[in-house]
Amino acid sequence: MRKENWESYNTVFIGYPIWWGDAPRIIQTFLESYDFADKSVFTFSTSGSSPGSAAFNALEAAYPGINLLGNLHFTSSSLDEASERCTEWVNAIFA
Ligand SMILES: Cc1cc2nc3c(=O)[nH]c(=O)nc-3n(C[C@H](O)[C@H](O)[C@H](O)COP(=O)(O)O)c2cc1C
Repeated sequence: MRKENWESYNTVFIGYPIWWGDAPRIIQTFLESYDFADKSVFTFSTSGSSPGSAAFNALEAAYPGINLLGNLHFTSSSLDEASERCTEWVNAIFA
């Protein structure tokens, strides 16, 4: 099912688990299925222990036309900080 009122969103947050060091393929399908022109896109990711930077860098490299502005990553050992870090991150984005 396609997202309704896609045009009315300026900022899009996309979350995914890290699979084999990367974003799951369905995330790329999503990025290829919608028009991201004029949108600010932030991602957030979770993993057992891998960093999120390689997956985010790969998305940036694959989609230079999409305004990918940052990624917030949590490993399973940093979940205790998730609520606080999410709040700070979102507040900083919309400050
Ligand atoms: C197919 C698969 C591949 C995964 N690959 C990695 C990996 O490369 N590095 C890592 O730290 N965690 C890996 N994980 C763990 C997931 O990142 C972790 O389960 C997920 O972030 C937590 O979300 P969930 O509760 O939806 O599973 C993998 C999990 C699956 C199922």
